Order: sequence, then C-alpha cells, then structure tokens
Amino acid sequence: MLVHGTIHPQQPELARSPTREVSTLTLVRPDDWHLHVRDDDALDVVVPHSAACFGRALIMPNLRPPITTTVQALAYRERILAKVPPGLAFEPLMSLYLTDNTPPDEIDLAKASGVVIAAKLYPAGATTHAEFGVSAVDLIHPVLERMEKLGLVLCVHGESIAPDVDIFDRERVFVEKTLSPLVRHFPGLKIVFEHITTAEAAQFVRVSGANVAATVTAHHLFYNRNALFAGGVRPHFYCLPVLKRESHRQALLQAVCSGNPRFFLGTDSAPHTARTKETACGCAGCYTAPLALGLYAEAFEAEGALDRLEAFASLNGAAFYGLPPNEDKITLRRESWKVPASYDYCGDKLIPLRAGGAVAWKLAGDV
Ligand code: DOR
Ligand code: ZN
Repeated sequence: MLVHGTIHPQQPELARSPTREVSTLTLVRPDDWHLHVRDDDALDVVVPHSAACFGRALIMPNLRPPITTTVQALAYRERILAKVPPGLAFEPLMSLYLTDNTPPDEIDLAKASGVVIAAKLYPAGATTHAEFGVSAVDLIHPVLERMEKLGLVLCVHGESIAPDVDIFDRERVFVEKTLSPLVRHFPGLKIVFEHITTAEAAQFVRVSGANVAATVTAHHLFYNRNALFAGGVRPHFYCLPVLKRESHRQALLQAVCSGNPRFFLGTDSAPHTARTKETACGCAGCYTAPLALGLYAEAFEAEGALDRLEAFASLNGAAFYGLPPNEDKITLRRESWKVPASYDYCGDKLIPLRAGGAVAWKLAGDV
C-alpha cells in the first residue's frame, strides 16, 4: 500500500499515532464481503455505488422470497450485472439462503457454479427477511457436512433468537450456545461470523482456528449505541446486530487494526426506503455503500493504523475465500465531501448513513 504525505519514518512509534497526516492512500481495489443490493429498481441506485469502489461483493440472499437455489442465484447475479455502469468491472459473488429444508445436493450445485461461494445461516426471524431462516441448527447438519466436505463457506448471522435473551446479549449468547458447538462439530467448515459487534465475538474469532473469520462493518467500527438515541430516536442508525456500547466498539477497532488476517471488510450496506425506516416499526439496516470506504479510512486513521487498511479491505477477505486479490488499485484522497441528504429510490428516498454530513476521505475520480 502506498501512503503519501507527511510521514515520519525515522520514528516508527508514530506508526500508530493518530496525529500522522497523510494526504493520499493507494490500495489494491477492495472487496465488500457482505452486501445487500435488493432487486429490480433498487439495483439501479445501489449497484453503481458499490461498483464505483469495490471490485467484488458477496451478495446477501435475503430477498423476499429468498435466494435458496443456485438457479435463482445465477439469475439474480445476471440482474445485478445488468446494472453495473459501463466501464466498471464489478463482480457479484453469490450466496444461498439456508432454510430448514435446504437439500444437501444444493450445495453441490452451488460449488459447481463457481460463483456461488457461500451459504448464509440466518437464525429464523433474527433480522430483515429472516423469517424463512433456520429454526434449529441441528436441522441443517447434513447440509453443513456437505459444505465442510466441498469447501463452501458458511456465513453466519450470529444472534440468538431465544425470546428471553436481551437484544444487546444476542450475539454473545449465540457464540456460547450455537457457534462454539458448531465450530467444534464441524472443525473443517469455513465460517464467516458476519458483522460482529462485540468483544466476545472478536475474541472468539481470535482464538478460533484458520477456518473461522469475521466481517466488520464501517458503522459498527464508527458508532456506538448512543448514536441510536442522540437527542431522540435515530432510525438510520438502527441495524442488526444493533450497535453496542463503546467498550465493544473499542474491541472491534483493536481487532481490525491488529493485523489478524481473519478480520475483513463487509459493509452490510442495507438499503431501505425512508418510509420503511422512519415509521413506528422501522426496518433494520444502514445504507453505507457510497461512503463506507471513507468511513473505514476514518476509523483506521483515528487508531493510527491507516497502514493496516489495505489488508483489511483488499487482501484478507479474498485470501479467506481462496481468491486472488484484485489486480487494479484505487486511490483515496484526503478531501472532505458531503454525503447526499438522500437518493431517489424506488419511488421514495434512500437516506444514507451520515446523510448531509462530511466524510474525510474521497475516492479519487469520484465526482
Ligand atoms: O441491519 C441489517 N439489515 N441487518 C441484517 O442482518 C439484514 C439487513 C437487511 O437486509 O436490511
Ligand atoms: Zn447483512
């Protein structure tokens, strides 16, 4: 990674100093290992935002109805590809949505496709469009065995769905009650613990073997749960897993800046219309695609760890999925830009995170 600007190489201890000023960052083009793009008209708006920055993205399958078969995933991929702006080379990689009834042979089809690289475990009802998810992990053991055998990655939404578990404890309880036993039962299964939000999840990944990794979102790195209630209820900060207390945010920052290759970028950018966010029972999801890389850069910079951003954003995820890194590079410039207040979206508005606010890092070439 090239870092230009005012650096003090003679003082290596400054390598972690937040005061170090650099003006541009050139990195291998990053990938987004956790992205929601929805379908139909939504694709027109959101696909160009991700394609402007990321080389590849792992597309989440929680449409309604969900993407449960390889045939559906391949057709969905074509619909996404049709919305990639000319001149950009964005590659959607696909995932299947596991249900209680997924047949193990579907895993063979996914593997053979070459573009379905993962299957997603949503505990039933845990999040947006998760009502078709898995009601008990035991029910999908034959599917997990097949995934372990064929090397298809399991992506996990790691939250307990037990109704008596406090919403802020759901991830920790999931680690104890579900994920730990699952990792023990399937030691060869490659698992990505998606959008981790707690110190316990980061620690679980740290002490697990090479088969267990985690994605971390920009919003969980940047905000704690106070953001949800700053002066009133802030629906655009509501996502699942919900933002956690500051000590957990600090633990996530430590994990991603540690250089451990099993932590990597997954934005979980999740568009919803303003109408469905700003209502009595609003949807979970933060729309971050247009600003995510700038947010990550801000978070790494605040930790004095800009030199660790490239591995997190561009190298670690590809390596975990057994893919080569992208061949081209991007440059981020230190140049404040204003996040639009909204985008026109599906006959309504799409309000991005930090709408109307400023981001300190801008993708060179972006207007
Ligand atoms: O906040 C979230 N939004 N979390 C998820 O797990 C799903 C996502 C969505 O699809 O909107
Ligand atoms: Zn998600």
